[in-house]
Amino acid sequence: MERIPFGAAPGGQPVEVYTLTNKRGVEARVTNYGGIILSLRVPDRDGRFDDVVLGYDSLAGYLAESPYFGALIGRYGNRIARGRFTLDGKQYTLATNNGVNHLHGGLKGFDKVVWTAEPFENEQGMGLVLTYVSPDGEEGYPGTLTARVTYTLTGDDELVFDYHATTDKATPVNLTQHSYFNLAGDGKGDILGHVVTFNADRFVPIDPTSIPLGELRDVTGTPFDFRRPTAIGARIRQDDEQLRNGLGYDHSLVLDKGGKAGALTLAAHVLEPTTGRVMEIHTTEPGMQFYSGNFLDGSLKGKKGAVYHHRYGFAMETQHLPDSPNQPGFPSTILRPGEYYRSRSVYRFSVSGA
Ligand code: BGC
Repeated sequence: MERIPFGAAPGGQPVEVYTLTNKRGVEARVTNYGGIILSLRVPDRDGRFDDVVLGYDSLAGYLAESPYFGALIGRYGNRIARGRFTLDGKQYTLATNNGVNHLHGGLKGFDKVVWTAEPFENEQGMGLVLTYVSPDGEEGYPGTLTARVTYTLTGDDELVFDYHATTDKATPVNLTQHSYFNLAGDGKGDILGHVVTFNADRFVPIDPTSIPLGELRDVTGTPFDFRRPTAIGARIRQDDEQLRNGLGYDHSLVLDKGGKAGALTLAAHVLEPTTGRVMEIHTTEPGMQFYSGNFLDGSLKGKKGAVYHHRYGFAMETQHLPDSPNQPGFPSTILRPGEYYRSRSVYRFSVSGA
């Protein structure tokens, strides 16, 4: 596995880039700064490879300003209302870094720390074991959390994310991966033509600050019904209160686990019709945040001069539901001492119509 220097983090720690490849020529470049996937090259239906994730050429780009391009998110992916929660009778206060709310772990989440990386190769493929020990009280969260996340590129063109964590005090945990995809190629237009199918009968409606209302709403008759293949752009401009609150799609889908909580099940199928590229997501998580790149506005200049205009990338973040620490009706995100946090998501790339 190739390993090259990628500069230094603000604290001075050296940062590297690791290149994962498989026999079919698929290549993922990953840095131990924030566990960021820098690039992901996959073939189209004619065998042409292109990079299908957004990001920057240099570490400086990520340090200057990044809306979590490619990053590993923790300690809590998504929002916690007003940066507050009560656990075992004690109130905790976290940074409010997204309007009045806490987002993606705070001011210095797991996306902005240097992880220890150990490369490996096995019969499945090659990958990296990323480890980070988050100190007790970091970003306001209780307990020392030891997180170990494995990225594997398999011989079957899958990127597999295995998340593990243990703690010495009860704490919320919700780890995810925040790659922005454009299966037509990075910087090659908006993502509205991607045809999406979600295995979700319900979604999480939100208030205008993107905090769940608490209810899980039936998708039937709403622009959130992707149970049949539908282009992202087909209904995104409809006059719908939920699309207004999210400024587009920025909502969690409640995945249909067929009664098997924690089983690896299909979450999403995405087809980019002009290239035939397909991405299929399977996860053990109960939810998936679908974000249609609504806050991209052309101000960020990415790889090889790409300009990230409105909706030039989408994220599909497998995770527990937003604001779970304050939502008694949602599956719990609390990890306790002696328990083992374990979560797996598989992003599989292929082509259709070859
Ligand atoms: C959130 C968006 C946010 C984006 C980048 C997504 O996970 O749902 O609201 O803008 O991350 O920060």
